[in-house]
Amino acid sequence: MDDRELIRLAHQARERAYAPYSNFLVGAALETREGKVYLGCNIENASYGACNCAERTAFFKAVSEGERDFVKIAIVGGPRGAETCATCAPCGICRQVMSEFCENKTFQVLLEGEAGEILRFTLDELLPLAFEKT
Ligand code: THU
Repeated sequence: MDDRELIRLAHQARERAYAPYSNFLVGAALETREGKVYLGCNIENASYGACNCAERTAFFKAVSEGERDFVKIAIVGGPRGAETCATCAPCGICRQVMSEFCENKTFQVLLEGEAGEILRFTLDELLPLAFEKT
């Protein structure tokens, strides 16, 4: 799928974010090799440790539906009501979760730059020397 379209879907997912505590809304759109897209948003909880990031929501939805082969994820996030989303890079826990299910050297992470441009990284760039249980 076109990168711009995947970013658009991440924005759509962001509209469903449940973030009454941080008021920081995040959306993710995860594409499988077959071209299917799973959306995710952050889902917070009054017990803060139970909060789940948008990326993990998308991954857990997909994996629980039997998906194992992923090519890229688009992530957008920013404060509620902000006119534009500043670059929202995935947190460390989400990078590790992605690494569990992806080929780090080829899996692409798409973010939005300050001017709305698309920033592209491989997971390997965001999580060098990833932990693996060998
Ligand atoms: N958050 C995400 O959903 N993804 C990230 O990669 C960074 C942080 C969420 C977690 C929490 O609900 C809110 O953003 C503020 O940290």
